[in-house]
Amino acid sequence: MAVKTASGAPARLPDAAPAKRGLWAWVNKRMPIDEFISSQLTGYYAPKNFNIWYFFGSLALVVLVLQLVTGIFLTMFYKPGELTSFDSVEYIMREVHWGWLIRYLHSTGASAFFIVVYLHMFRALLYGSYKAPRELLWLMGMLVYLALMAEAFMGYVLPWGNMSYWGAQVIVNLFGTIPGIGPGLVEWIRGDYGIADATLNRFFALHVAAVPLGLLLLVMLHLVALHQTGSNNPDGIEIKEKIGSDGKPLDGIPFHPYYTVKDTFGVGVFFVLFALIVFFVPTFGGLFLESPNFEVANPVSTPADITPVWYFTPYYAILRAVPDQRMGALLMGLAVLSFLFLPWLDRSPVKSMRYRGWISRTALALFAVSFVALGYLGMQPAEARYVIAARIFAVVYFAFFWLMPFYTRIDPVKPVPERVTYHAH
Ligand code: HEM
Repeated sequence: MAVKTASGAPARLPDAAPAKRGLWAWVNKRMPIDEFISSQLTGYYAPKNFNIWYFFGSLALVVLVLQLVTGIFLTMFYKPGELTSFDSVEYIMREVHWGWLIRYLHSTGASAFFIVVYLHMFRALLYGSYKAPRELLWLMGMLVYLALMAEAFMGYVLPWGNMSYWGAQVIVNLFGTIPGIGPGLVEWIRGDYGIADATLNRFFALHVAAVPLGLLLLVMLHLVALHQTGSNNPDGIEIKEKIGSDGKPLDGIPFHPYYTVKDTFGVGVFFVLFALIVFFVPTFGGLFLESPNFEVANPVSTPADITPVWYFTPYYAILRAVPDQRMGALLMGLAVLSFLFLPWLDRSPVKSMRYRGWISRTALALFAVSFVALGYLGMQPAEARYVIAARIFAVVYFAFFWLMPFYTRIDPVKPVPERVTYHAH
């Protein structure tokens, strides 16, 4: 029954908390900002035992913003086109105020993005973060990774250096190995009979507009999925299963202020290392910016060795390890896509490597070694000794994924504790 005053009008009952007034209250009545902050930051509980591996998610976000901002400034001066691209990049480097810095931030940012994302993915392998209930979070992450690869590949073509040209030639031609539609598809992607002005212009449109939009959307979905299940942690224990009398996870702490402060520290350390590279070794000995790319694209002069940038070389080594080009392209695709199936290949009853047995640990270590070794081999000339080594490491690489349903079942696991391992500092 409604409470009434003596005059018969409905009474205004006092609110539990004093109502906010002013502009902030006005905004919140129309847009739930406070509600968002309390549900996603101050009231979002993350496990209290995050370690150094948990820095890389927020770092990936920081690098994403860095790439978007520096990319916008580069686009103000860059002119896509066979006759203008290379010169406009030189113009940015020599004439535009701080242009060299914007460009080096962007080119170093691309490599930093992959370093951060590879470490972020490795953390998921270490702690079984892809396992139920986080399969969709993992799949969203994989889509982000695929979009990131497309973004980096097309961005690399834009300066129209000689490696841009020949790299695009090799990679686009791989689509020609698809039975039936291959040759037509290659022509459709290029928009011409060879890598040409039309290719460069469409790669520009995709690199600055379509793919970044897709990336932003996918990263948002990745975070939505993360907040639905909550974070995993180095012990692989679900903190939502141990709730205290206050209704909060016993092993959780509010994301803000605890992890916002911790992540800010991580961002500071990252920028110190990043600045050292940008200011002192921006080409990183030819790893981040390859020397043939300081010469303009030349369709009649192939670089001595066509190699992609380091972050693609593990897959490139697999492509070259197979004599038949069609089979090589297929295995290269499978090497990337194998990650997608991890949640279903892994049959271990525990998530974290901390409680897995020697078989899983050895398999992960061998996989990490094979990934790095393939990365190295992909940068070497296609000589027999390197190709043979690449074949051996490719077998190890695929064995990690496709033997997983067997070895994770027989691996002798250790008992997982009830609560997370945490030592107060
Ligand atoms: C632009 C790229 C990406 C951004 C901005 C991003 C962002 C984040 C953030 C902020 C978190 C929470 C903090 C953390 O756990 O470190 C997270 C968690 C996670 N991400 Fe990503 N991520 C990206 C790419 C990827 C990729 C490529 C994968 C895997 C294919 C992936 C898989 C995961 C998983 C499994 C978790 C949960 C980890 C756990 O709770 O242990 N992410 N991501």
